[in-house]
This record gives sequence, C-alpha cells and structure tokens, in this order.
Amino acid sequence: MTHFFHRRQGELWCEDVPLAALARAWGTPSYVYSDATLRRHFHVLDEAIGPRPRLIAFSVKANSNLSVLATLAQCGAGADVVSGGELARALAAGIPAGRIVFSGVGKTRAELVAGLVAGIFQFNVESAPELEALAACAAATGLRASVAIRVNPDIGAGGHAKISTGGAEVKFGVPMAEAPALVRRVIEHQSLDFQGLAVHIGSQIGDLAPMERAFGKVFALARALGAEGIGVPRIDLGGGLAIPYDEGETHAQPAAYGTMVARAAGDFPGLLIFEPGRLIAGNSGILLSEVIYFKRGESRNFLVLDAGMNDLMRPALYDAFHAIEPVGRPRGEPVPVDVVGPICETSDLFGENRLLPPLEAGDLVALFSAGAYGASMGSEYNSRPLAAEILVRGAEHAVVRRRPVLDEMLAREPLAQWLAR
Ligand SMILES: Cc1ncc(COP(=O)(O)O)c(C=O)c1O
Repeated sequence: MTHFFHRRQGELWCEDVPLAALARAWGTPSYVYSDATLRRHFHVLDEAIGPRPRLIAFSVKANSNLSVLATLAQCGAGADVVSGGELARALAAGIPAGRIVFSGVGKTRAELVAGLVAGIFQFNVESAPELEALAACAAATGLRASVAIRVNPDIGAGGHAKISTGGAEVKFGVPMAEAPALVRRVIEHQSLDFQGLAVHIGSQIGDLAPMERAFGKVFALARALGAEGIGVPRIDLGGGLAIPYDEGETHAQPAAYGTMVARAAGDFPGLLIFEPGRLIAGNSGILLSEVIYFKRGESRNFLVLDAGMNDLMRPALYDAFHAIEPVGRPRGEPVPVDVVGPICETSDLFGENRLLPPLEAGDLVALFSAGAYGASMGSEYNSRPLAAEILVRGAEHAVVRRRPVLDEMLAREPLAQWLAR
C-alpha cells in the first residue's frame, strides 16, 4: 500500500476519498488512480536522473487514460507511443508532439504518416524495411523524420519471459552488428535525420545488472559511430524498472537506477530519453471490485468477484501477483480462499489460497498495483463492459472513463444486411 492508498478507521481510502463511496457512486469494477502518486513517481524518477538533459516519455501502453496522460503532461512528461491510437491519445491529452517518441516493430505507413504530420520528436526504427517505409513516407509528404535505431543487445530481462524484449530470439530492435549499416542508411536519406540509438530490454526488471550491460553496449556503439564521424545526439534507454507487487518485495530503486545510468552514460553529452510505464503508473492505481458470491467448493473456497480477467489480464497472462485486500474494516480471522472472476476460463484467477478475512456478497475488495497494464489491457470478453476509471485528487474525484452501457456495445455491430432484412 502506498501513502496515497491507506486506511482510516480500518477503511481503505485513496488520498482523501473513501473507496467505498466511489463504489457506491460509480459501481464496480472500477479502476481508481491517485493523482498525487502519479506525480510523485514521475518526480522520483526525474530527480534520480540528476542534472543531465533528459526526456521522460511515459510509456502510454501502461496506462493510456487521457486524464492520466494529461496529469503526467503537467509534470513535463513526454510520451512513448506504439500505435496511431496511442499517438492520438498523447496529443489529445496535451503532450506536445515535440516530446513524443514512436516505438514498435509494426508501424504501418498510415501510422508513420500520422507521426510525421504531427511532427513527433523521434521514430524509434526497429528494422530495415521500416526504415525504407519511413523514408518513403517522409519523401511523399515532404516532411523530415528524426530517427533513432532501436538495437537488440541480445540481453533480455524482465519479470516474465513474455515481457523480456532484449534477447536475440525476440522480434524487437535490430541486431547490434547490423545497426551501423542501418545508421549509415538513415544518413543517406534526404528526408531522414539520424538522431540516436534506442534500447529496451524488458519490463519488471528488478536487477540492474542486465540493464547496465545492455546500456554499456549501446554507449559503446555510440562511441564507435562517433569515431567514424557520426554524431549521436540522443540515446533512448527505454523503460523497464520493476515495482513491488507484494509486500516485502525488493527491487532496484529509482535512485540506484539513476546512479547506474550515470555510470553507463559516463561523459555522453547528449539527451537521454527514458520510457517508464509501470514505475509511474503501476502503484498509482487499484482495481475496485465487489464480491458477488462466497462459494464453497469441494477442496477450496472461492471468492467470486465482479472483476474478471477481461478487466485485469496480468494474472492470466503472466501469472502475475496482485495483492488483494478488503476495502472495509477487516472482520474476523483470515481464511484461505481462491479469488476468481466471473469469466468462463479457469485462468480467470486473481489469487490462489489467499488469506483474507471472511468476506461475503456485497463486500468490496481492492486489487493493488493495477495502475499499469490494467485498464489499458482490458477487453470486453464475455461481453462485459470495460471497467470505469476514476481519478482522485485530494478530496476530489472524477470519472475519467465511464463504463459503457450495453446498448453502446451492441450498437457497434450492425447486422449484415442479409440478416437484417
Ligand atoms: C519500447 C518500450 N518502452 C517502454 C516500455 C515500458 O516498460 P515499463 O512499463 O516496464 O517501464 C515498454 C514496455 O514493455 C516498451 O516496449
């Protein structure tokens, strides 16, 4: 629990708002974000980096809510986007195009043009064909593109194999050995400006050693290019820093990360770009859910929630752990339960054998550390409306994404004309 999600007289609050009041007013499942926590996490990282020129480009995939993005824009954040949709969101939230970095292995021509027209800060190019597509789009539109080459340092890391993005076997970036040729190709194109190198080796990385090795390779490549007379004005170090999901979990802290970055960067005089997602948003949000049933099983008992894997996919996708606590004052001695959702999949399981005080239908629970890769990964599987999102600031709150009504969901699907006759 962070300072901004805390208990008063036993009840769980977000800043100065009781979570139970939000559930009463807006229903469940709902994501609840803390403005103060978002800002605090941004500033902690910003301070950890020290006085170097830097751009902190929040990784929009972690939490793409417009009000969350606008809050971070007020802190001075840029955005790391990976689709035309995320680009549109970042711009709509007031993040200046000059602070937007476009990553991703599969940018379409339409997305490249959208980035060019918006005048974004940098395209992180991940392959030779993408480079040629970008050059063609830039030439066709008469616009120039700032380009960084994302390298794959063949060092992967992360909290789960599915979020490790730096090994030679994964699709991300270009092999180190091929990067110099690609850089020269950027320089040959009239419509492209070579600006730098980028790297991102994974997410939920608690040990800085692999990151430092990867960064070392990137700075060494920058020095080698410099020796050839090719200046490297910017290096994008990606995101990836881990956060605690469970009590007592310890990971490298932002301050240690800052020290490591300073060591790896040495006397590099250019701009450093960072793409944090989870670090800023993860522990800034919870998922608020109501117990539908306490169900006795043959070998286990189940707490069936109204939130499902469609709302918070991480446990089903990555076996991820989220702490779960009652919102109300805990009553009675904890008992073991499996906390599950209503979805018709066995993987719709938020926690196995969790020790929770006795809870019954109508009680509320909070699933912690749900601010990153929570709502942004949500789906309407089982035809369930997307969860609402609520932003709290002090004693104020705002519904920053309302829950769609079923009619809206159905209205998106006109019957084929031969069925509608
Ligand atoms: C290119 C890139 N940058 C940044 C991030 C954000 O990572 P994290 O949320 O771990 O900081 C990701 C996510 O994996 C990514 O793919």
